[in-house]
Amino acid sequence: MSEILGHLESVILARKGADPSSSHTAKLLAKGSAKCAEKFGEEAVEAIIAAAQGDRDGLVSECADALYHMMIMLAAQDLSFSQVLAELERRQGVSGIAEKAARSGEIEIRPLRDEGELVQCHRIRRIVFMGEQGVAEAEEMDPHDPASTHYLALIGDEAVATARARMVDGVMKIQRVAVLKALRGRGIGRALVERIVEDHPEIDKFAISAQVEAVPFYRALGFAAHGHEYLDAGIPHRDMSLER
Ligand SMILES: CC(C)(COP(=O)(O)OP(=O)(O)OC[C@H]1O[C@@H](n2cnc3c(N)ncnc32)[C@H](O)[C@@H]1OP(=O)(O)O)[C@@H](O)C(=O)NCCC(=O)NCCS
Repeated sequence: MSEILGHLESVILARKGADPSSSHTAKLLAKGSAKCAEKFGEEAVEAIIAAAQGDRDGLVSECADALYHMMIMLAAQDLSFSQVLAELERRQGVSGIAEKAARSGEIEIRPLRDEGELVQCHRIRRIVFMGEQGVAEAEEMDPHDPASTHYLALIGDEAVATARARMVDGVMKIQRVAVLKALRGRGIGRALVERIVEDHPEIDKFAISAQVEAVPFYRALGFAAHGHEYLDAGIPHRDMSLER
């Protein structure tokens, strides 16, 4: 999300539950979700009127109001603007060219070339974990990215899958394994995890906190499950490991 939208959203979230007399946003949120939705509707109509009248400056200003009220309407329903952005990205999905190339197996898997490429990993993680699975931004974008080695699967210039790996107590933890929905079931997830294992011949133990749904996927890669099921980010998980 652009910095300004991210900032606006964090201000709105901070006002949630605050004393209604402390700010306009807190007052609106205290009136409930129906009122917030109604207010968004009013702002949207004002934008329509400005557009219909050819009032270009007015339209910019009304759109800013509508956007702000859209975020309040979302916050009133415990939804974040990031989820809307993730849905837009999901709809953009994967281009037809990438789909075709994936079918012919033209996939490159590699660690990031530079830090700038991390935005591509984040894009995929936003779509898959935040958009599809509803994981909160604060949980998804944890503080471990800088200490991790990130991998991308690319079709041409298009990033379609990601994963990260980091050392914790002598064990390499593989995390955030995500393949864009349109390209699942084609061996990309397998190739990504295998590449991480291959790239680290000095490591004799790899660990994964696997979503229960993905346990068969990691099992097919030689990982064994142990211990009980537990919840992480509201999703059932099991610990799995691969030793060699
Ligand atoms: C889990 C995920 C990464 C798998 O990626 P993928 O590219 O679809 O998997 P692959 O095509 O490489 O599958 C590899 C093997 O696992 C199997 N497999 C994959 N997903 C499976 C599932 N949900 N259940 C059972 N088997 C599965 C495949 O059949 C394949 O087996 P095979 O080689 O014997 O045919 C992908 O589904 C995904 O991104 N899911 C959403 C994010 C997520 O939950 N990540 C895991 C977090 S722990």
